[in-house]
Amino acid sequence: MKKIAVYPGSFDPITYGHLDIIKRGLTIFDEIVVAVARNSQKNALFTTEERVELIQDVLKGEGRVTVDTFSGLLIDYVASRGAHVIIRGLRAISDFEYEFQIAQMNSSIGREIETLFMMTSLQYGYLSSSIVKEVCSLNGDIDNFVPMEIKKALKSKYGLA
Ligand code: COA
Repeated sequence: MKKIAVYPGSFDPITYGHLDIIKRGLTIFDEIVVAVARNSQKNALFTTEERVELIQDVLKGEGRVTVDTFSGLLIDYVASRGAHVIIRGLRAISDFEYEFQIAQMNSSIGREIETLFMMTSLQYGYLSSSIVKEVCSLNGDIDNFVPMEIKKALKSKYGLA
């Protein structure tokens, strides 16, 4: 039986931090479904469709990754994909409390679903999509944080292309 994991998030936009988790996740799972949340509480810069396209673009050629969107409860979506594991990246202690709370809630309403936390690699521990957006909007260098396709899309959003 194939080991499938769901990697959910806002991905507004995807960064090298997320890509690092996906790459390492593929050493554990046969398939990863990158699931872009439609009903995120956050004010997104990119539409859901744009975020999906950007992720597909940077992951093209990686046959074991699919990109999808979801709305409603994450655990319902995970079950609908025939998966049993949610992957989440942990960056700092400050992420822990929030992630722990969500994982506990998810496991109490969907007992058969596990959350796997992966430590974000050291060089991406300070990264977030918001910080990348802020640096880009101020015309800073974001080459070390996102692939070229994402940089292009960000610059275009900010009228800097
Ligand atoms: N490296 C660098 N940055 C990372 C990272 C990594 N490995 N992993 C996450 N981040 C950053 C993201 O860029 C993001 O930055 P931002 O806040 O500036 O946008 C931040 O960490 C956290 O984002 P993300 O991982 O996308 O999580 P989220 O909090 O935006 O989304 C959902 C969380 C969508 C998975 C969650 O809200 C959910 O499951 N919602 C569905 C509804 C539901 O089931 N609710 C019940 C839960 S109990």
